[in-house]
Amino acid sequence: MHPLEQLREEALREIGSAPDEQALETVRIKYLGKSGTISRWGEQMRTLGKDEKPIVGKLLNEVRNAVSAALESRAGDFCSQKESEALARIDASLPGTPHEIGTLHPLTQMWERSIEIFRRMGFALADGPDIEDEWHCFDALNTPPEHPARTEQDTFYLPDGRLLRTHTSTVQIRTMQAAAPPIRVISPGAAYRNEEINATHSAQFHQIEGLYVDENVSVADLKGALEFFFRELLGSGTEVEFRPHFFPFTEPSLEVYVKSKALKGGEQWIEVAGSGVVHPAVFEQVNKARGDDAYDPEEWTGYAFGLGMDRLAMILFDIPDIRLFSQNDLRFLRQFA
Ligand code: FA5
Repeated sequence: MHPLEQLREEALREIGSAPDEQALETVRIKYLGKSGTISRWGEQMRTLGKDEKPIVGKLLNEVRNAVSAALESRAGDFCSQKESEALARIDASLPGTPHEIGTLHPLTQMWERSIEIFRRMGFALADGPDIEDEWHCFDALNTPPEHPARTEQDTFYLPDGRLLRTHTSTVQIRTMQAAAPPIRVISPGAAYRNEEINATHSAQFHQIEGLYVDENVSVADLKGALEFFFRELLGSGTEVEFRPHFFPFTEPSLEVYVKSKALKGGEQWIEVAGSGVVHPAVFEQVNKARGDDAYDPEEWTGYAFGLGMDRLAMILFDIPDIRLFSQNDLRFLRQFA
């Protein structure tokens, strides 16, 4: 037997009987390490004669490959042995760690239901920033600085003169600045007023703004759309009533009241929205800002509305206090799972 073949047998035997990873590493160094036996054979090749070189070289390669493969396979054995030992320690009959399943906030549920109904009616979604300028919040909506309506909505001002929007009607203006008529959008979002906080008033609340501009849009269209919306949301027996009101940016202006069996009491009229036919002065402000005549009040008419989402959710889910929406009390939120 060639000494190299003998070397291979010894190495394979030692690899096979190495009791653990550490012992296996010692064997590896002994044979394949820098000054290991096989490596040394490699160095000795230089001293061999011409005839012997290719034969010994081939054999050396075979031996090196066999020893490497055996080392690798034995290391693999140790690895899977470790894994099965670890698995054996796991008790599959123990109960798992439960993950809490979250639920959508009641206001989010309210938004989703409302948006779905408006989408069926062909309304697209529009968006605008919570931090606004006076022009978008008031001036463009026919509410100049001296107008009493400005003080009615007690506004949070930022030091730089900007403000937290007091209503989502700002998005009406932004939408018309960005696109020519016809327009049919809704915009859900937060509004802020420096109001005294109580069971029905919050300093941050939520509205869904609606705007529809087209040829020959009338109060009848507004009433039809909102009646359909409230009947879809609250049930077909829901009654909807429109009462004259005042908003600077609509003429006529109407407050919307609903009475529904779905609501607590069922016999009470509850105010849920402001609405009206878009005032021509609003179109004129938009035209001025756009620098064109896209919203010619002779050609285009429109209606707009602003629904109070928090109040609607309170009515629908029978919630007695608006503050519950923002207190993050899990006992309250879990009821909407
Ligand atoms: C407005 O904000 C008008 N921008 C609505 C509008 C839009 C009219 C388009 C015409 C055309 P108002 O201030 O009434 O209107 O508010 C609308 C709704 O927001 C109210 O019906 C109410 O449900 C809700 N709301 C107003 N203030 C608060 C508050 N502090 N907390 C909770 N909800 C409020």
